[in-house]
Amino acid sequence: AVNGTEPLRVEIGGIDVEVPEGASLLAAVRAAGAELPALCSDDRLSPAGSCRTCLVRADGRIVAACVTPAAPGVRVETDTDDLRQLRRDTVELITSALPSRALTEDNPSELAQVCRSLGLGPETAQGTGGRGEDVSHPYVHLDRDLCIACGRCVRMCAEVQGTFALTLTGRGADTVVAPGTGGPWAESDCVACGGCVDTCPTGAISEPGPGRGLTSAHRPAATRTTCGYCGVGCSL
Ligand code: FES
Repeated sequence: AVNGTEPLRVEIGGIDVEVPEGASLLAAVRAAGAELPALCSDDRLSPAGSCRTCLVRADGRIVAACVTPAAPGVRVETDTDDLRQLRRDTVELITSALPSRALTEDNPSELAQVCRSLGLGPETAQGTGGRGEDVSHPYVHLDRDLCIACGRCVRMCAEVQGTFALTLTGRGADTVVAPGTGGPWAESDCVACGGCVDTCPTGAISEPGPGRGLTSAHRPAATRTTCGYCGVGCSL
């Protein structure tokens, strides 16, 4: 038993894997060692299912892997031509609205890495920008033009930090993260825990200085504190 429950057996691209009851197909795909973009997902957070970059086929049906629970015996395909094309088109659509600095060649962001893995070059980012920055806070800077409204920062702030300082504002393609108080970041409820910086997949929210644009996977190993103050640890 895993976590006190019976494990489920599922098939991912012909490979049998066991996952705990309640696990998502995304977790099962990763347990099988397969690569899958998942831009609005973070293991530490509840799934949102909003970006549609994690599309797979489960028993013949195309679904978002992050919000689909693994069912016993389900057969999942991840690596077919049509699924690769679907995911590539979705990432291309998300990225096309961003300015070119989102995809500079050595950009370490999760989005830039996903684009590289899908063969999407810097020319994919064709947005003109113009939403501006919020650099009012000493430790957290927001570049609105890089925001893809994945909501990971909002969920990190609420679910892990418990601060509820952030929200998504605007409609459709103009949706962007903002402090819930409406004013500048420095005047918001932000306690500078760094959780939003840590989870942002594009570098839209970053720490000023040399760490700018780095996400947790690429920043030098953080020192995790045990003080229990923020639940995230000293990643800034
Ligand atoms: Fe699954 Fe975004 S990661 S929909």
